[in-house]
Amino acid sequence: MKVLLVSASPRREGNTFTALSEVAKTLNQEGIETEIIEIGSKPIGGCIACNWCKQHPEEHRCAFNNDMVNTISAKALEADAFVFGAPVYYGQPNGSAVSLIQRLLYSNGAAFSYKPVASVCVCRRGGADTSYQSLNMMFEMMNMPIVTSQYWNIAYGREPGQASQDVEGMQTMRTMAHNMAWMLKKFHGEPTSERPEKEPWTPMAFIR
Ligand SMILES: Cc1cc2nc3c(=O)[nH]c(=O)nc-3n(C[C@H](O)[C@H](O)[C@H](O)COP(=O)(O)O)c2cc1C
Repeated sequence: MKVLLVSASPRREGNTFTALSEVAKTLNQEGIETEIIEIGSKPIGGCIACNWCKQHPEEHRCAFNNDMVNTISAKALEADAFVFGAPVYYGQPNGSAVSLIQRLLYSNGAAFSYKPVASVCVCRRGGADTSYQSLNMMFEMMNMPIVTSQYWNIAYGREPGQASQDVEGMQTMRTMAHNMAWMLKKFHGEPTSERPEKEPWTPMAFIR
């Protein structure tokens, strides 16, 4: 089984990547293959409702080939589950994340429906929970089972990599990964425990 993890941050190995790496590491420990894709800093335009994809469903892709959308779309056909991570910009997922996900789901929905998905958001201070809900809203109308955790899948940090110091945030990522692994094994009829693995809670408030 394979999980595709997509970081919509333009910053290479930023905090979104840090959070997704924690998820991937845990999935690997569970025996699940992973691939992390960083979309990079090239722009991703929004859906223009041209409906080319609806007229060519056998193509499983967006009409526009000039950005990362179709690269990810092709990989989605082979993936069993997804994690989409986004940095928070102005209290929302960054624009590229929204453009990317909307075009993927509209142009190649069959590659996503009925496959588990988790949203991840990172921010410096505020807006992660609203952003997390925004991402989930898109998956919730695609028949995609949403993978949750012990808390919303959010982590805090400003400079690249700082999120690794968010002890509770990183634990939230690991718990979500265990839950996703457990769900995938149940779906695919593989042996697994009655309940997913769970660590003792490591809380972390803003002011320690
Ligand atoms: C344009 C812009 C807007 C931002 N808006 C917010 C915000 O509303 N709330 C917040 O807490 N952080 C905000 N940030 C900070 C980022 O969310 C934060 O640095 C995050 O760790 C970036 O993730 P990355 O390293 O994966 O890119 C903003 C950053 C940028 C560039």
